[in-house]
Amino acid sequence: GQSPMIDPFGRKITYLRVSVTDRCDFRCVYCMAENMTFLPKKDLLTLEELDRVCTAFIAKGVRKLRLTGGEPLVRRNIMWLIRSLSRHMESGALDELTLTTNGSQLTRFAHELADAGVRRVNISMDTLDPEKFQQITRWGRLEQVMAGIDAAQEAGLHVKINAVALKDVNEHEIEEMLRWAHGRGMDLTLIETMPLGDIDGDRTDQYLPLSTVRARLAEKFTLEDIPYKTGGPARYVQVAETGGRLGFITPLTHNFCESCNRVRLTCTGTLYMCLGQEDAADLRAPLRASEGNELLNAAIDEAISRKPKGHDFVIDRRNNQPAVSRHMSVTGG
Ligand code: GTP
Ligand code: 5AD
Ligand code: SF4
Repeated sequence: GQSPMIDPFGRKITYLRVSVTDRCDFRCVYCMAENMTFLPKKDLLTLEELDRVCTAFIAKGVRKLRLTGGEPLVRRNIMWLIRSLSRHMESGALDELTLTTNGSQLTRFAHELADAGVRRVNISMDTLDPEKFQQITRWGRLEQVMAGIDAAQEAGLHVKINAVALKDVNEHEIEEMLRWAHGRGMDLTLIETMPLGDIDGDRTDQYLPLSTVRARLAEKFTLEDIPYKTGGPARYVQVAETGGRLGFITPLTHNFCESCNRVRLTCTGTLYMCLGQEDAADLRAPLRASEGNELLNAAIDEAISRKPKGHDFVIDRRNNQPAVSRHMSVTGG
């Protein structure tokens, strides 16, 4: 078989995140500018090519595959790819095939996803207030996402809610979101806003350290550290009062790069070895150069051998420039 992927720091790569499209039906303020120029269709990997790259990664030891975007469910014919990839779940090669979605299309797709072997989805939702929701997503409607959450749960999917913690925007709503999510049997994960991509506003103004959020919550709730692991970067606590799990993704206050197990593929076949670094490898050329996978596998090995130790996100309050200029919608978080 193929050699497993072990990076220069001894980290084993078992998690591939694939952004299947840079497009989205929302325009979240921290993710995109209102007027985005999207990639020309010809630059995109076809669904067959995405299947081929994912399969090559699985042969090299990937056990967890997550489709992201943009919004993964707006990619045309996405269910074809998901159904095709589900063969790796059936064969036991993959432990998890999942998505991170904004929830807007779930009323349409929830049942098909469950049928294809998806067991869990992460839904991004930063507020329970319809007006704020519209301010954050610009084009989104909370009602539509709520209906998507209902549909996902009805289809038997486990739902985790992801919320980016935003100063002055949702910081005083986190307790309410926690009660709401746990009341519905969903985990909630909070994310520190990362300085990625040139956006219209000033993201450094919205940065809210999760250490602060955690300290505030600890005044009201009993938070017990638990060893629960999903293969993702969140560290979880069990909340005694609500009986649910709360995750913290803290790239800035508590760097988790040491245990990084993942790489990211964009919809054009670029492999990013780290979310917070510009260095990348082109897999599209070796993929297209021949029908066999030798060049592709060699390009993957070469890329993994360059995986950096960690990100260099910095929150510089004097300087408005993001540390990394790629948009989040290109790498899918
Ligand atoms: P689970 O399988 O539920 O653990 O999901 P996950 O956390 O692996 O995936 P999800 O798409 O829910 O990721 C949530 C967010 O965590 C991403 O959108 C990123 O913002 C952040 N994140 C994930 N991986 C990394 C990473 O390697 N570095 C940094 N800085 N942030 C990451
Ligand atoms: N910082 C942190 N999280 C972000 N997301 C999008 N942009 C950022 C950012 N700059 C989150 C979304 C979604 C996930 C895919 O990434 O809210 O939950
Ligand atoms: Fe779309 Fe997600 Fe970016 Fe919001 S964060 S604009 S939902 S890709």
